Amino acid sequence: MTHRMQGKIIIISGGAGGIGSAIARRMADEGGTIVVSDINIEGAQALAKVLGNDSSAVHFDAYDQASIEAMVQFAVDRYGRLDVLVNNVADTSLTYVDKTILDTDVATFDRSIAANLRSVFIATKVALPHLLANGGGAIVNISSAAALFGDSWLVSYSVAKAGILSLTRNTAVQYGKQGIRCNSISPGFIAHGKAREMMADTMKSVLDVSHVTRNGAPEDVAALATFLASEEAMFMSGENVICDGGHAMAAASWRTGELKLV
Ligand SMILES: NC(=O)c1ccc[n+]([C@@H]2O[C@H](COP(=O)([O-])OP(=O)(O)OC[C@H]3O[C@@H](n4cnc5c(N)ncnc54)[C@H](O)[C@@H]3O)[C@@H](O)[C@H]2O)c1
Repeated sequence: MTHRMQGKIIIISGGAGGIGSAIARRMADEGGTIVVSDINIEGAQALAKVLGNDSSAVHFDAYDQASIEAMVQFAVDRYGRLDVLVNNVADTSLTYVDKTILDTDVATFDRSIAANLRSVFIATKVALPHLLANGGGAIVNISSAAALFGDSWLVSYSVAKAGILSLTRNTAVQYGKQGIRCNSISPGFIAHGKAREMMADTMKSVLDVSHVTRNGAPEDVAALATFLASEEAMFMSGENVICDGGHAMAAASWRTGELKLV
């Protein structure tokens, strides 16, 4: 294991969840001190305990501006600075009411934009002065493959995640010369926890139309997030990296009849 996060102070929003906790574990394994921030404070605390490196947990609510500000302030008060922000949070509970345009309430759309996009804007806005005070830093935003191609049912989520792509580019362009790098990741279908059993059929159909030999795991996104946050990725900024086992590309080929699966 390399130590690319050695000595870095890292906030991971939604850090108690499936992908967030994998990013936290990977970055801590590589020497980082993690602030696990989540509305699920018990989960965040339990994770922080096992991460080591003086990692800690803080309660935050992505719908609440003051709470997002407090998350960043907590890290700076406790450690004296901030090096990396991973905007990973999403309110995935909205998945059940976020459908097609005609079937989705305006209230659901508003909530999705608030939790999944507005919160990322606020966290970035509040963290930037601290990153700049350090002479620079890295921001990794977790978007989604849904942002790139539309989605057959999650309209609000797709739109919010597409906004993250633009926010990523704006952050990179506006603050790059001051030492800020900002990149995003668009994961494809990443099952974890109980969903792995409940969504076995979906996992199989995704794998059938992919260019790899297994389904994606949170650790795949974590490895990429750690690279993008590290100095190895110094020449990457404003980029979005798809992490989906080639599913989107395979699905496109499938539709045009170019893909011959064996
Ligand atoms: N799992 C996938 O297939 C997939 C695919 C593409 C993108 N993503 C993105 O990856 C990121 C992580 O997804 P995941 O699958 O780990 O989701 P998850 O639901 O397991 O984790 C989300 C975390 O955010 C926390 N959270 C929810 N609402 C919150 C709020 N209002 N305030 C603060 N914290 C809150 C939850 O407690 C949870 O710990 C999300 O941005 C998601 O959109 C996931």
